[in-house]
Amino acid sequence: MAKRERSGFVSLLYNRVSFLGGFLAAVVFVLIILTIFFSWLSGGQSPYFGLVAFLILPPFLVLGLILIPVGAVLERRRRIRTGRRTEALFPVIDLNNPKSRWHLTVFNIGLFAFLLVSALGTFQAYHYTETTEFCGTLCHQVMEPEHTAYTHSPHARVECVECHVGPGAGFFVRSKLSGLYQVYATLTNIYPRPIPTPIENLRPAQETCEQCHWPTAFFGKKQRLWTHHLYDEESTPWRINMLIKIGGGSPATAQTAGIHWHMNIANRIEFIATDSANQDIPWVRFTDLATGQSQIFIDENNPPDSNLVNSQPLHVMDCIDCHNRPTHIFDPPDRSVDLALNTRRLDPRLPGIKELGVNVLAQEYETTGQAMDAIAAAVSEAYETLPDSVAPPPVVEQAISTLQGIYSTYHFPVMNTRWDTHHNHIGHSIDRGCFRCHDGHHVAETGNRIKRDCTSCHAILAQGPPDSLMTADDPETGLEFVHPVDIGEAWREIGCYECHTGAEP
Ligand code: HEC
Ligand code: HEC
Ligand code: HEC
Ligand code: HEC
Ligand code: HEC
Ligand code: HEC
Repeated sequence: MAKRERSGFVSLLYNRVSFLGGFLAAVVFVLIILTIFFSWLSGGQSPYFGLVAFLILPPFLVLGLILIPVGAVLERRRRIRTGRRTEALFPVIDLNNPKSRWHLTVFNIGLFAFLLVSALGTFQAYHYTETTEFCGTLCHQVMEPEHTAYTHSPHARVECVECHVGPGAGFFVRSKLSGLYQVYATLTNIYPRPIPTPIENLRPAQETCEQCHWPTAFFGKKQRLWTHHLYDEESTPWRINMLIKIGGGSPATAQTAGIHWHMNIANRIEFIATDSANQDIPWVRFTDLATGQSQIFIDENNPPDSNLVNSQPLHVMDCIDCHNRPTHIFDPPDRSVDLALNTRRLDPRLPGIKELGVNVLAQEYETTGQAMDAIAAAVSEAYETLPDSVAPPPVVEQAISTLQGIYSTYHFPVMNTRWDTHHNHIGHSIDRGCFRCHDGHHVAETGNRIKRDCTSCHAILAQGPPDSLMTADDPETGLEFVHPVDIGEAWREIGCYECHTGAEP
């Protein structure tokens, strides 16, 4: 007896291509479930589980599902070609036929389950590409400097996307498109080292930072205390305690002066930079939005030619023109060694440890491994003959591991990234920062200059060695600055950053 030929639409599914599709879909489905299970077992630590479960496997699942109807169509063509009886192209749905009803129920349940799972999967995939693990650790080497510095910053609990994408669909789509190019650049190894800043087309800070910090909430002054250490045998401490006139925008507090008020609320400042890092700013326009009056300040040492002013787009100053390192803070050796001395992770009993630490960190190395060896060798050699009475050997061991730790937190030779590859615009002691405009040489036609005098931005409350501090009587005016070592009047004429580069001055 001849094998009974299966009939009806469903019989078209009995073919190799549809079987293959079904098999593929089933296997991939099981793999996705297993991956999610393992990800859960591992406590969600590794970003790779998410990558596999939500981005790599789902397309194969869809491919398998598509192959099922494709196989049916091919099978039908084959039957027509070989002259066998064929059914209608579309299944005949006769709700009076119990078999049809059964098929329809199974199909609908399947479709519903699939749509539900896809919706959840798409949401998970979306959610996953927004996580800090995805942005910060997946392309490990590329993002290592930014991610590592981020984890040591005040914003370590703010997700990357809160600053880099922000709310709204438009920027979401833009970020995913540029993300695709970044994946390509990483796979083909053509990404720049270091990743350049400023980032082109970063979202205006008003739309990201101001989700959490809004200018009307700033007011008053912020006190900051620095304890520096000299480059002498004792690493002598030198303290600077100051009030920074942050100011703000809340008319209710009647605090209408200071750094933030002038920059952002009632005023607009526009400028033109002649370099990509926004360091050379020969042209600045200040507009008082209440009266509509404006003034143009020109750098008298480096006046822009008139073509430049007409051809360049104007850059409107926002938060990032001062706070460009709110979270990717690559501390300069001078600062990271000061901090280690202040927290006693470096022992000031070690003679000349400030100078040695800074110099060994500031050197250029090919790899982090080479740096680790060089740091250990330099410190051991320096204190080889140190008598126990000055400092016992564990102190030297601790110095080595502290300096190695600092190096791997802020220096990334593979990405050519360290403090001096990325400018920091806050302040003026190590980078030009505020002095890009406030250098005393930006002058308007009226003779008005953008202020450089030391009391316009802050007041020094106290300065000097901790055991013999000079203190101010009036916190409004503060003390006149005293430079820790005698450099004559040099600090009045030139910027601190011209001598202080972050390494030994
Ligand atoms: C608090 C806000 C904030 C958060 C959170 C944040 N960034 Fe940034 N990021 C910035 C700013 C501001 C810049 C500098 C923009 C400029 O100068 O144009 C920047 C620059 C970068 C750059 C360019 C290179 C550089 O160092 O300037 C990369 C890459 C980067 N961020 C990646 C990340 C990753 C990955 C995360 C999450 C681990 C993250 N960012 C979290 C604000 C943030
Ligand atoms: C999701 C909320 C959030 C966003 C977005 C955010 N911040 Fe913050 N920021 C915080 C919190 C919380 C703190 C306080 C952290 C602390 O005190 O340790 C902070 C602290 C700061 C500080 C003080 C840091 C210090 O050393 O004390 C600055 C400056 C700052 N943010 C600037 C920015 C800038 C610029 C942006 C945009 C690029 C930004 N923030 C985006 C939440 C945010
Ligand atoms: C002209 C430069 C400048 C601009 C523009 C600017 N800031 Fe600041 N901001 C400062 C300085 C300087 C400080 C004090 C820094 C310090 O702690 O040493 C500061 C401090 C802060 C702090 C910490 C306040 C505290 O009490 O600890 C936050 C938060 C902040 N800024 C957010 C912003 C945001 C958001 C914007 C954009 C709307 C912005 N800033 C624009 C210069 C600026
Ligand atoms: C792009 C140029 C530019 C940069 C960079 C800049 N400023 Fe200004 N700033 C101005 C201009 C222009 C004015 C208004 C000058 C005027 O009318 O006298 C101003 C005014 C101020 C004032 C008000 C001064 C007063 O008493 O009237 C303060 C305070 C101030 N800036 C602080 C800062 C700080 C702090 C930084 C660095 C974190 C900084 N600025 C960076 C351009 C700049
Ligand atoms: C345009 C505003 C502005 C002017 C003008 C200015 N400063 Fe500052 N200065 C700052 C800001 C902002 C900081 C805080 C930097 C930070 O948060 O790291 C600072 C920090 C400092 C510090 C402490 C930082 C350190 O590394 O020890 C000293 C000291 C200092 N300024 C001295 C001076 C002297 C001296 C002058 C006059 C020649 C001057 N400043 C003029 C804005 C200004
Ligand atoms: C002409 C170059 C020069 C200028 C300009 C200059 N310094 Fe210095 N500074 C030095 C030298 C040299 C030392 C001594 C380092 C040592 O031997 O301890 C020093 C030491 C210091 C120290 C203690 C050691 C350290 O590095 O932490 C501080 C703090 C300091 N300077 C702050 C400033 C500030 C703030 C300004 C700007 C207002 C400034 N200096 C301008 C050359 C300069």
